[in-house]
Amino acid sequence: MTRTIYYTATSLDGFIATPDHSLEWLLTRDTDHDGPMGYNAFIADVGAMVMGASTYQWILDHDPEGFSYDVPCWVFTHRDFPRQDKGDVRFTQDAIKTVHGEMAAVANGKNVWVVGGGDLAGQFADHGLLDELIVSIAPVTLGAGAPLLPRELELRVTEVARNGDFACARYDVVKP
Ligand SMILES: NC(=O)c1ccc[n+]([C@@H]2O[C@H](COP(=O)([O-])OP(=O)(O)OC[C@H]3O[C@@H](n4cnc5c(N)ncnc54)[C@H](OP(=O)(O)O)[C@@H]3O)[C@@H](O)[C@H]2O)c1
Repeated sequence: MTRTIYYTATSLDGFIATPDHSLEWLLTRDTDHDGPMGYNAFIADVGAMVMGASTYQWILDHDPEGFSYDVPCWVFTHRDFPRQDKGDVRFTQDAIKTVHGEMAAVANGKNVWVVGGGDLAGQFADHGLLDELIVSIAPVTLGAGAPLLPRELELRVTEVARNGDFACARYDVVKP
């Protein structure tokens, strides 16, 4: 059954990027993609992904491989991004519920990955469409930046582990 999962890394004080969108504090850390709650097992079960415009822009600006994801990706934006040659990228301003329905259909039983940012994950939660949160907590505080999940949400912890420099935790979103 499809689960909609916000899988991300965060500082201990709940920021997923610095105010100027730097991830230097994250990318310099030790992590094992095949280790506990690691990326490789997670992405193997993902059938669709979604992100906001800033996250997409960050990938365009910083990923040496450019956009390199194999699964269809919806990007919420009002901006006029150039057409993406690599991968299957779908720019949208549609309602969250509509897009979620499209993603679940394409995922065909696999999971939907909410990449971020935090407010976009919150918009899915607002509609009762966020099932799970998996966070890798870097051993750093940033003081300010892009928030992890700027909502009041009740969560239930289902797994904890250490992966390299990161404390990892998995939560179910408790739905009323
Ligand atoms: N630590 C990590 O693992 C991790 C993970 C993901 C992201 N990040 C970083 O965190 C930062 C997140 O940036 P952010 O907080 O600005 O969030 P974001 O979700 O990446 O981008 C926000 C933008 O998305 C668009 N958007 C969001 N909801 C929309 C909707 N319903 N309809 C239409 N457009 C919508 C808007 O763009 P428009 O301007 O086009 O209206 C909005 O300004 C980035 O620097 C990213 O690289 C880090």
